[in-house]
Amino acid sequence: MLPLIAPSILSADFAALGDAVRRLDEAGADMIHIDVMDGHFVPNLTFGPGMVRALRPHSALPFDVHLMIEPVAPYLEAFAEAGADTIHVHAEAGPHLHSSLQKIKALGKKAGVAINPATSPDVVGEVRELCDVVLVMSVNPGFGGQVFLDSQLRKIERLRAIVDEAGTGALIEIDGGVTPDNADRIVAAGATALVAGSAVFAGGPSAYAANIQALRAHA
Ligand code: DX5
Ligand code: ZN
Repeated sequence: MLPLIAPSILSADFAALGDAVRRLDEAGADMIHIDVMDGHFVPNLTFGPGMVRALRPHSALPFDVHLMIEPVAPYLEAFAEAGADTIHVHAEAGPHLHSSLQKIKALGKKAGVAINPATSPDVVGEVRELCDVVLVMSVNPGFGGQVFLDSQLRKIERLRAIVDEAGTGALIEIDGGVTPDNADRIVAAGATALVAGSAVFAGGPSAYAANIQALRAHA
C-alpha cells in the first residue's frame, strides 16, 4: 500500500502559507502537516489556532496538526474548532496523555500520539483504544531540514507489531528527515504515512508535485 504523504508547512514561505496550502492540494498531497511550536516544549516558535483557522478555507485536505506545546490540554478545543482534523499530542508533554486523547476524540477529531526519539513505543500500547495515529519523531523536534535518525527504524518495526496486534488500524506516521532516499526503508519497516517538509518544498512550487510523487514512488 502506498503511504500517505503529509507535507509540513514548516518548510513553506511563512509569508504565503495560504498559497502554499492550495498548491500542495493541487500537487497531490494527502494531508497538510501543521507544526505548532511554543518555544517551551521545543526550542522554536511557530503559530497557533489562528493560523489553522486562516488556512482552513484554502484546502479541503485533512489538517494534520502536530502540537509541540506544553501544557497541551488547554488548547485542544481551540485547534479542533479552528479546523484541525487530526491532533497529535506528545507523550512527553505532561502526565495526562490518556485524558488528552479522550478529549480529542470527544471533540470528534482523530487522535495522534507523538513520540520523541528517546521515547519507547510501548506507551502506545497503553492508549491503543484512543490512538488513530502514532507520530514517530525521526528527528528531535523543533526544526525542519534535519537528518533522519536511522535508530527509529527499529521503533517503527516494533510499532508495526503493536498496532497489528491491537488490530486498530492506526496509522504509523513518520516525521523528520524523510526523503525519497530513505522512504522505501521507512515504509518497509512498517510506516503508512510520511511527513516531509524540506523534501517537498525543495525546488519551489513547480516541484511540489514531483517531490510528493518521488516520496510515494520510492516507498
Ligand atoms: C519538526 C517537525 C517536522 C518537520 C519536518 O519538529 O515536527 O514536521 O517540519 O521537516 P523535514 O521533513 O524537513 O525534516
Ligand atoms: Zn511535525
